[in-house]
Amino acid sequence: MPKVRFLPLDVEVDVPEGTVILDAALDNNIKIDHNCGGNCACSTCHVIVEQGFDSLNEMSEDEEDMLDEAEGLTDHSRLACQCKVTEDLVVLIPEKSSEWDDDDTF
Ligand code: FES
Repeated sequence: MPKVRFLPLDVEVDVPEGTVILDAALDNNIKIDHNCGGNCACSTCHVIVEQGFDSLNEMSEDEEDMLDEAEGLTDHSRLACQCKVTEDLVVLIPEKSSEWDDDDTF
């Protein structure tokens, strides 16, 4: 089973191959924002894949468009709900600026 290490928490989890990164996190009580529920319609699940980036499935045009909206975009940025784990990964969950003015209950 591939392992995913989530930073900055430094927590490593085993996940079944083919699991999307967002589910790998949520199933292990690791928080990644996902305002659209994993439907590639927001950019809140933006993560930076520090290791294993090349093993991920190709980015769709929709993902590219949504990622453009993400804050702190890097060459290794992906939407956590759109990429599947096939090999060991190291994934950085960026800190969000608190620009949301709705009543987020964390
Ligand atoms: S949760 Fe909205 S795009 Fe991933």
